[in-house]
Amino acid sequence: MKPARESWTTKLAFILAAAGSAVGLGNIWRFPYVVGENGGAAFVVVFLVIVALIGLPLMVTEITLGRETKKNPIGAFKALAPNTPWWLVGAIGVLAGFVILSFYSVVAGWGISYFFQTVTGSLTEGTDFEAAFFDHVRQGFAPVAWHALFMALTGLIIGLGIVKGIGRAVRYLMPVLFILIIMLVIRGVTLEGASEGLQYYLQPDFTSITWQTWLDAAGQAFFTLSLGMGAIITYGSYLKKDDDVPGSASWIVGLDLLIALLAGLAIFPAVFALGFSEADGPGLAFITLPAVFAQMPFGMFFGAIFFLFFSVAALTSALSLLEVVVAWLVDEKEMSRPKASALVSFGIFLLGIPASLSMGAVDIQVMGMPFFDFLDYLQETFLLPIGGLLTLVFAGYVFTASKTRESANENSTSFKLGVWFEWLIKYITPAAVVIILLAGLFL
Ligand code: PHE
Repeated sequence: MKPARESWTTKLAFILAAAGSAVGLGNIWRFPYVVGENGGAAFVVVFLVIVALIGLPLMVTEITLGRETKKNPIGAFKALAPNTPWWLVGAIGVLAGFVILSFYSVVAGWGISYFFQTVTGSLTEGTDFEAAFFDHVRQGFAPVAWHALFMALTGLIIGLGIVKGIGRAVRYLMPVLFILIIMLVIRGVTLEGASEGLQYYLQPDFTSITWQTWLDAAGQAFFTLSLGMGAIITYGSYLKKDDDVPGSASWIVGLDLLIALLAGLAIFPAVFALGFSEADGPGLAFITLPAVFAQMPFGMFFGAIFFLFFSVAALTSALSLLEVVVAWLVDEKEMSRPKASALVSFGIFLLGIPASLSMGAVDIQVMGMPFFDFLDYLQETFLLPIGGLLTLVFAGYVFTASKTRESANENSTSFKLGVWFEWLIKYITPAAVVIILLAGLFL
């Protein structure tokens, strides 16, 4: 007999775990550098539009599908539409989890390494922070070793079981991260020459918007909200019937937005004041933030706590990525949780090796980009948007929009979704994803 499926112990536990999944490297590391690559404030505006139009409705939909079926993504689609190919949407999610975590873990590894570098005092004032970053990721062995450590930790926690592993950490994580980022914002905006960065980040130049901007914003929205791959379906599957779906969805999206927007506010004024380049790509946060800490009283101390919490935030997101793949093996293939977790973690570790090496140690390119960038391109352009689109089509037409709304509204104590929600998930949101994908790819 299968043991009873676990569920969250309190209402807050779900919000915390889902927010733990959403808030991560996507907010602190990825959001600022994608803003920097897309010209600043105008991108932020486009991103906000996408979050409202696509992110929120899809968040509600995924939580609802999970709660309705109490299954992993593949099992959820199988349960609601037996003997149809819809389970393939879940399969895209499992694939996405695997792909994303392989490079995500590499970046988390940089975070752990930066924690130790801060503690040992090798990132103090006077350091060339740009050179320090590129030198670090260019080494062959060290980043791969940190990546191995991070994957081992993630695999261990998931192997021991989800509800026990998650939730507890997040309760402390969010407030501490929030306070540290606020400190960084204050230091950043008071640096001499910060106003140029503020302008860059807050004063939109709408003429710079192209279809590519929309595509990047959509990719970022899926990524930062953990949508389009079943992570939220999986977490929703541990929800009890009496939880409030529209309210939880709003909280999760709101918290995630808040942390991302603040991270940008911590970074851009400093980028301009300290003479870095806003187009530094994946290195942006790792170059800018240590430089800001170096300009702060007790900077070493705060910097160390920051990178510690940065790594923990990455961990709580990584858990949800790994959980999707493991839940599938456990539920559908009847594999034991520890075995599934060990196996998958090792596979992801292997895929992450070329990703890490392609940052400069070895020339590994696919489609003209470093392997690391290729994996990111794959998830942001195809896996998440297509997974999200199909999830919406499924909820809107197969499960039906009216049932999705009804199910989402069940036991809601905050507010109820009106008929507009059905319109949104049937027509507007899927159409927006299709238009952005096609235009971004072909125009
Ligand atoms: N949302 C996470 C972050 O911002 C990453 C993630 C993507 C997690 C997809 C789960 C699923 O860091």
